[in-house]
Amino acid sequence: MDALDNILNRVSARTLSNPIPSKDEMETVYKAALRAPDHAWLRTSSFIEVKEDGLDKLSDIFFNFGKTIPNIADEVLEKYKNAPYRAPMIIILVNTFKEHPKVPPIEQKLSTAAAAQNIMLALNAMNYACIWRTGKMAFNKVVQENLNLKDHQEILGYLYVGTEVGNKKKIPNLEIDDFVSYL
Ligand SMILES: Cc1cc2nc3c(=O)[nH]c(=O)nc-3n(C[C@H](O)[C@H](O)[C@H](O)COP(=O)(O)O)c2cc1C
Repeated sequence: MDALDNILNRVSARTLSNPIPSKDEMETVYKAALRAPDHAWLRTSSFIEVKEDGLDKLSDIFFNFGKTIPNIADEVLEKYKNAPYRAPMIIILVNTFKEHPKVPPIEQKLSTAAAAQNIMLALNAMNYACIWRTGKMAFNKVVQENLNLKDHQEILGYLYVGTEVGNKKKIPNLEIDDFVSYL
């Protein structure tokens, strides 16, 4: 796929199914992620790949988080429990804060966000699809602890990955002049 076509035509997909990328394909995806801009090469990004029975473990973690919320409605608990099954693979985006005199926390998170976009573009180039979701399960201390993350590690989001079911959504035509000014 042409590099520009890949960027211009990427869309998020809500309904995802098998097939998922192979181990070799995922190695390329992670290489792409690690080519994101990274001030001082701090390497603050890492990824937890979840598939097969990992989805059951994540479902338990989401459910157990739900149970910590007083008076949570049964439907909401059910929604949390089912959330991981919206795709056959999930990549959890983790940022590990590293103390550095010139690189504040926000820059470190921006680098992980750039890594996420590289992942999405690499997947799109291989004809897979994904969507970045956050919701209650991102930036969530209980979920982070249950995934054995440390205090200085944070979940920035979840990339739900697979093959899109149905047609790609239409890409909106945006007026470039509404977004760009010149000095
Ligand atoms: C940081 C971040 C968090 C997001 N969280 C959610 C989310 O929790 N649920 C959701 O439906 N979309 C979420 N989105 C939006 C989708 O990932 C997607 O970008 C949006 O639906 C627009 O589709 P497009 O990427 O095809 O333009 C999030 C996007 C970003 C960048």
